[in-house]
Amino acid sequence: MSNKLIDIVNVSKSFGDNLVLDDLNLYIRENEFLTLLGPSGCGKTTLLRIIGGFESPDTGKVIFDGKNITDLAPNKRQLNTVFQKYALFTNMTIAENIAFGLKIKGKTKSYINDKIRYALKLVNLEGFEDRTPDSLSGGQQQRIAIARAIVNEPKVLLLDEPLGALDLKLRQDMQYELIRLKNELGITFVYVTHDQEEALTMSDTIVVMNQGYIQQIGTPEDIYNEPKNAFVADFIGESNILPATMVQDKLVKILGACFPCVDVGFGRNRPVDAVIRPEDIDLVKPEDGIIEGVVTHLIFKGVHYEMEVTANNFEWLVHSTDMVEVGTEVGIQVDPFDIQIMKKPESEDAEAVTIEE
Ligand SMILES: Nc1ncnc2c1ncn2[C@@H]1O[C@H](COP(=O)(O)OP(=O)(O)OP(=O)(O)O)[C@@H](O)[C@H]1O
Ligand SMILES: [Mg+2]
Repeated sequence: MSNKLIDIVNVSKSFGDNLVLDDLNLYIRENEFLTLLGPSGCGKTTLLRIIGGFESPDTGKVIFDGKNITDLAPNKRQLNTVFQKYALFTNMTIAENIAFGLKIKGKTKSYINDKIRYALKLVNLEGFEDRTPDSLSGGQQQRIAIARAIVNEPKVLLLDEPLGALDLKLRQDMQYELIRLKNELGITFVYVTHDQEEALTMSDTIVVMNQGYIQQIGTPEDIYNEPKNAFVADFIGESNILPATMVQDKLVKILGACFPCVDVGFGRNRPVDAVIRPEDIDLVKPEDGIIEGVVTHLIFKGVHYEMEVTANNFEWLVHSTDMVEVGTEVGIQVDPFDIQIMKKPESEDAEAVTIEE
């Protein structure tokens, strides 16, 4: 996983007055599972369509394997797309659907039949050749759409929210199936989703986007543990994002109380944001905590309890396997390693990040 396969260089795109992608730079490596993640309307599909050749950028270029393909037609690119709204040909059988692209390419009948069998096996739908799309469940149809893309042996598979229409259990099954396909076929996946859990589960690399800008690029671990700004912290998982002051290296003042942390280099008495994950807050006896508060909400979530603790006028979100009753006075403790310090955005524009209310 090292070679740059696709390089997106200074790509911008507007629709009318609406600037959808603003001078985007991103590269995708061979055999990488890269996910574009962000809220609705942030430009994910537009970027995918530019990579696929269904949309041209206003400025910038797309390089594939060292060649500029910005103006190349979609069918001349070594990639296949599974769209947000998948469309099987309803008047054709499953086998005919899968064979469609291969027939256009003039492949022989035996080659095509082998491919159909192979693709149906990969998506766990052996024996479905003669069925019609309307006799299949949503999830099965989705798998056929993926099989249809795979038989063309693309170097890259572009997938736009392919599991969006499926229920949770089926989504999870399909997530495992896609990871298996990626490992077995060794193709590069560019995957679009607005589901952060799906992105964390499946990706080698996550690109977090908001309003046409890239907010952060990193491994799932990086993005979860070291969010670069408040938008990423808020979008990925649940967080307590607290206005704070970096008193000095390794000491941060949050809501008037000083917490030891591990961050250095922010200067003295600088305004920052502190991010603390709900599972990283320890509830202790009031006198043992850095801040004292009261449990104000309690919900059982299956694996853990979700609690809200009101302390120093802030509602802290806390996850724990231990239950603490509503009304209990508690102390809040946080391990220094579990406090993530982020610079405040310097201005309202550019990469400075706004959180949508
Ligand atoms: N053909 C078009 N003409 C005009 N505006 C468009 C067109 N395609 C997309 N847009 C606009 O561009 C913005 C980004 O759209 P895009 O489809 O890339 O978002 P997305 O991140 O895929 O969102 P979702 O998660 O809802 O699919 C939106 O404001 C959308 O309305
Ligand atoms: Mg979209």
